[in-house]
Amino acid sequence: MELDEILGQIERELEAIKDENDLANVKIRLLGRKGLFSSLFENMKNIPQESRKEFGKRLNLLKVETEERIKKLEIDFEEKRKRKKEGASKIDITLPGKIPLVGKKHPITITFEEIIRIFTSLGFEVTEGPEVELDYYNFEALNIPKDHPARDMQDTFYIKEDVVLRTHTSPVQIRTMEAKKPPIRVIAPGAVYRCDQDISHTPMFHQVEGLMVDKNVRFSDLKGILTVFAREMFGEDVAVRFRPSYFPFTEPSAEVDIGCVICEGKGCRVCKDTGWLEILGSGMVHPQVLRNVGYDPEEVTGFAFGMGVERIAMIKFGIDDIRQFYYNDLRFLSQF
Ligand code: DAH
Repeated sequence: MELDEILGQIERELEAIKDENDLANVKIRLLGRKGLFSSLFENMKNIPQESRKEFGKRLNLLKVETEERIKKLEIDFEEKRKRKKEGASKIDITLPGKIPLVGKKHPITITFEEIIRIFTSLGFEVTEGPEVELDYYNFEALNIPKDHPARDMQDTFYIKEDVVLRTHTSPVQIRTMEAKKPPIRVIAPGAVYRCDQDISHTPMFHQVEGLMVDKNVRFSDLKGILTVFAREMFGEDVAVRFRPSYFPFTEPSAEVDIGCVICEGKGCRVCKDTGWLEILGSGMVHPQVLRNVGYDPEEVTGFAFGMGVERIAMIKFGIDDIRQFYYNDLRFLSQF
């Protein structure tokens, strides 16, 4: 038998090995007492003298090599068997680790917390009201008559004829005043709902309502408190302006603007070239609203305000599409 042929046979035998059983058989066939190598060595006496020595040398080498390869296969199978026995519980410490994602607060939560921090530092308490609200609290008691455009079916989600998803947090004013006597200093954060959706409106959004009622609460108190708020929120140097406005539940009413944080008042796309950004609505509580909760407007006065949390967050963080808050895209959310 030629060496090439021998080599080929060994190669075929080794390659065909599927399991430990095959391996044991091949080992016997090749290296066993009556195996291939034994018979080859046996037959060496038939090889002509001149080439016998060389052939023997090559055969020996081949045998050692084959023994090594079989040994290696034996070790591999042994390893495999051990691993299988230890099962899936085995921890492979050579694998790269998984880096845990660290959770972050949602920008709306961050903004809520900041608003609450500022007003509680000014002596306001946090209170809440229901999101499914009676028409009476959402509209009627706030001096919003039946034919007011805010009641339009397009804006308000009606549950029943006299039950709505609150369209603002102002009903919490009424509930608070019904429940206790002045002095009152509360803020009411929460979700509100309007049937509206575009780049600056979502059907659900958040507001913070504020209410202060006591003897001798004046418009200057409103101005002072809201100026402090604007400066705490947007920076000491921010310009603040009170612009006459109208709300059914306040008289007089004012909207509060801050100097545009993008162009610093020069005029840009964000402030629509006005140099100002509206941040909230406010006013002195309408005497009729005070009467509706059994207060005497000759004895106590108050101011109220309401702001959109998304709007504050958009200005604070420079976000131009309100819907970003609700896509839950981690690339957006992880920036805050
Ligand atoms: N409720 C108003 C709104 O949703 C905001 C508001 C304006 C609240 C003036 C107030 C206020 O308390 O005095 O647009």
